[in-house]
Amino acid sequence: MADKKAQLIIEGAAPIDLPVYSGTLGPDVIDVRGLTAEGVFTFDPGFMATSSCESKITFIDGDNGILLHRGYPIEQLAEKSDFLETCYLLLKGELPHAEEKQKFDSTIKNHTMVHEQLKNFLNGFRRDGHPMAIMCGVVGALSAFYHDSLDINNAQHREISAIRLIAKMPTIAAMVYKYSMGQPLMYPNNELSYSENFLHMMFNTPAEIKPIDPILARAMDRIFVLHADHEQNASTSTVRLAGSTGANPFACVAAGIAALWGPAHGGANEAVLRMLDEIGDVSNIDTFIAKAKDKDDPFKLMGFGHRVYKNFDPRAKVMKETCDEVLGLLGINDPQLELAMKLEEIALSDPYFVERNLYPNVDFYSGIILKAIGIPAELFTVIFATGRTPGWIAHWNEMISNPYKIGRPRQLYTGHTKRDYPNN
Ligand code: ACO
Repeated sequence: MADKKAQLIIEGAAPIDLPVYSGTLGPDVIDVRGLTAEGVFTFDPGFMATSSCESKITFIDGDNGILLHRGYPIEQLAEKSDFLETCYLLLKGELPHAEEKQKFDSTIKNHTMVHEQLKNFLNGFRRDGHPMAIMCGVVGALSAFYHDSLDINNAQHREISAIRLIAKMPTIAAMVYKYSMGQPLMYPNNELSYSENFLHMMFNTPAEIKPIDPILARAMDRIFVLHADHEQNASTSTVRLAGSTGANPFACVAAGIAALWGPAHGGANEAVLRMLDEIGDVSNIDTFIAKAKDKDDPFKLMGFGHRVYKNFDPRAKVMKETCDEVLGLLGINDPQLELAMKLEEIALSDPYFVERNLYPNVDFYSGIILKAIGIPAELFTVIFATGRTPGWIAHWNEMISNPYKIGRPRQLYTGHTKRDYPNN
C-alpha cells in the first residue's frame, strides 16, 4: 500500500521515514504509528488532519461538495433509492438485487416490534424529558434484551444486531413521541414501508388510523437516506471508539446517540428552528447576523458551516429541493421558511460567511421539512439518529470484521510536573 514515503526531521535527531498511503480517492495519509518508538506523538486536537481508520464505506470531498456511499453519489441515492436499500448498500457494500431487497425489507419488518417490557422503561422518564435523553437510555438498554446476539466476534450475531437496531429505531422514536403526548403507543404495521410505518406509529392512534400521505412518506424516507452515513463524523467516531473496547453494538449506538445530541452535530436541526423562532422576523436578521460575527457573542448561525464541506453540502441541496417540493405539494406557506430563505440569502452574500466558506448544511433545511410533516422540534435529532443508525452499524461492523486496536489517543501534557503531597 505504501508507494511513497515522508521524512520527518526533528531538530538534532536523525530523519524519520514514514510510509505514505494512497486511497482510491482523497488525500494521501502519512502513517505516523512508527513515531511512538521514536518517543514523539503527533498533536491534532479536534482531529483536523487525522485519519482514524481505513474505510470503504463513504467518501467525502468537502472542497467539491461530493458525498459517495460505496461509490454512489448521494444525489442519485436520494432520487432513485430508498432508505432500506441504502442501509443494505452501506452494510453489505453493493446494491441489492430485487430478490435480496425484498428479503432484506421483509427481515427488517420482522424485527420492528420491541420487547413489551421496554414500554415499562418509558414510565421511569418524565413526559417532558428530552427525547434524545430517552433514546440514549432505551437504545443502550436493548442490550439487556437481546443477549442472543451480543457476541461481537460472531458475524451472524453482528448481522442480527444490525437488523434489530435499524428495525427498532423508528419504533422507539415513535414510542418516545407518543409517551411525551400521553397517547397510547402504536404497534408497527408491517404492511407499510419503513417510512410509512414510522409516520403511522407517530401520528395514528388506535381510535383513528388514517392512510399515510405518500408525499410525506417519500420526504421522510429521503430525510433518512440523506442522514444515513457521513464517514468519520463525531458520532460515528464515537461508535467506533466505544466499539474498539469490545462493547456491544447497542451500547455503542447509544454512545453515538449521545455524541449526536450536541448542537454542533445532530442537535443543530433542532437548534435551527429555535434560532428562527428567536429571530422571529426578517427585520431582525441583520441584528442576528451581527451577533454571529461578533467573537464576544457565543451566538452562531445554526445550520451554517461544516468541518468538511468548504464549498457546499450536497445533502443540503437535495434537502432544499425536497423542502420546496413538500411545502409546495402540501400548500404550506410557512413564514419561517421565508425567514430561513432570507437568512440564507444574506449570509451567502456576507463577506464574513463567504470568506469562511460557511454554507447552509443539511440541518438548515431538514428542520423546516420535519416541521411541515408535523414532527416537533425536540424530536428532530431523534430522526437524525434513526437515519444515521445504518452508518453507525456499518462502520462498527467494518471495524470489528478487520484487525483493530482499542482507540486510545495520547496527549500533550502541560500540567504540574511531579510534586510531593504536603506534610501538614
Ligand atoms: N456562525 C458564525 N460563525 C461561524 C459558524 C456559524 N455557524 N461556523 C463557523 N463559524 C466561524 C468560526 O467562528 C470561525 O471563525 P474565525 O476563523 O474567525 O475564528 C470560522 O467560522 C471557522 O469555524 P470553526 O468553528 O473553526 O469550524 P469547525 O470546522 O471547527 O466547526 C461546525 C464546524 C461545528 C459545524 C461550526 O461551523 C458550527 O458550529 N456550525 C453551527 C452548528 C451546525 O450547524 N452544526 C451542524 C453540522 S452538520 C451535521 O452535523 C450534520
